[in-house]
Amino acid sequence: MRPLTTTTIQPSARVNGNGHKSEPDAAPGPSTRVLHAGAPMRKGFNSLTPPIVQSAAYTFHDTADLIAYKESDSAQDRREYGRYGNPTVRAVEKRLAALEGGEDALLLSSGMAAITIPLLLLLQAGDHLIVGDDAYHRTRVFVNDFLQRYGVEATTTPSGDLAAIERAIRPNTRLILAETPTNPFLRCVDLAGLAQIARPRGILTLIDSTFATPLNQQPLALGIDLVIHSVTKYLAGHNDLLAGTIVGGAELIARLRESHALFGAVVDPATAYQINRGLQTLGLRVQRQNASGLAVARFLEEHPKIGRVWYPGLSSHPDHAVARRQMSGFGGVVSFEIAGDGPAASRFVDALRLAHIAPSLGGVDTLVIQPAIMSYFDMPPAQRRALGISDELIRLALGIEDAADLIADLAQALEAV
Ligand SMILES: Cc1ncc(COP(=O)(O)O)c(C=O)c1O
Repeated sequence: MRPLTTTTIQPSARVNGNGHKSEPDAAPGPSTRVLHAGAPMRKGFNSLTPPIVQSAAYTFHDTADLIAYKESDSAQDRREYGRYGNPTVRAVEKRLAALEGGEDALLLSSGMAAITIPLLLLLQAGDHLIVGDDAYHRTRVFVNDFLQRYGVEATTTPSGDLAAIERAIRPNTRLILAETPTNPFLRCVDLAGLAQIARPRGILTLIDSTFATPLNQQPLALGIDLVIHSVTKYLAGHNDLLAGTIVGGAELIARLRESHALFGAVVDPATAYQINRGLQTLGLRVQRQNASGLAVARFLEEHPKIGRVWYPGLSSHPDHAVARRQMSGFGGVVSFEIAGDGPAASRFVDALRLAHIAPSLGGVDTLVIQPAIMSYFDMPPAQRRALGISDELIRLALGIEDAADLIADLAQALEAV
């Protein structure tokens, strides 16, 4: 047996002084990036996974410790009370910031909190904002019905139409809110073009990039100020929690963090742990969903019982050129119209065996809706149709099932039409 020696072991070159891994030599692939982005190699208690710090408040060693903490620059890593910060939540924020290429990120209790809180903070009475007509339905309700009550004016422009956005700008325009790709028509706005319009005029840009994920699109690198995601969707990825995030420059996020502490829309540490766990497989899931999205869209486009298909990866999509320029994959949502009426579309939906009828997207399970009888159910039919939401429109949000099985399921369901 070899004798035990008492050599001094040098710190590993794998880890720098902060416990962060030294930078890899080559640009990492998507799954490597997701797994390692913003995550220290060594975590508390040497745990492989980030520990769940399930505490509402944090203690101080003594009064001197408290005063030293108060005098320190603790804006980002506040630790006296759970509404101001939590280490498990912070671990997710760092991962999200690194993934989006932002300086910092804020994790909130839902995607809507990630939309409403920046709008409430960044706008005031007398300001004007511009929003796309195909933005998430609730976002438009908040902008048009709620913000207007507080004296903030809004103009709705056709999603993806830069010329219309430019025409809508007024001297008091403070912010442009756009979603890309949109829901349900997957319209894409040219992000670099949008930044070129907004930046010189001092107008902030806020992009809802939920449908793209940080893997398919990087708005900040194209000059956008803030990116938000409904983490509920692809990022968490399992349809089992609600959360949202805002990513951007350190100064803007620090300001948002202050108001976040007032609004209190925080994420529970156990939920943050689940988000982190979901994020670890984001690379695999998004690759699968991108591939299935394209395969399903191509299948549907060829099918005689399908009227029209919207998928940014198809050359027939109005924003295909923009999508190709700024996206590395086109996502897992495909919208289409059955060649028939609303009841025919419902027969198709009811005949599907793999897709659940449910109003979300981006998780491991395939979900399907007829927007007219889900998100737009309460809207008068004429108003709905003016937005292009026909009764025969279907939105299919692909999960991670095998593409061949999904296509076979669609084919058999189309026989019921
Ligand atoms: C594009 C988009 N943004 C924001 C939201 C709101 O997110 P949450 O449901 O997490 O509040 C949704 C929800 O469907 C969405 O589709």
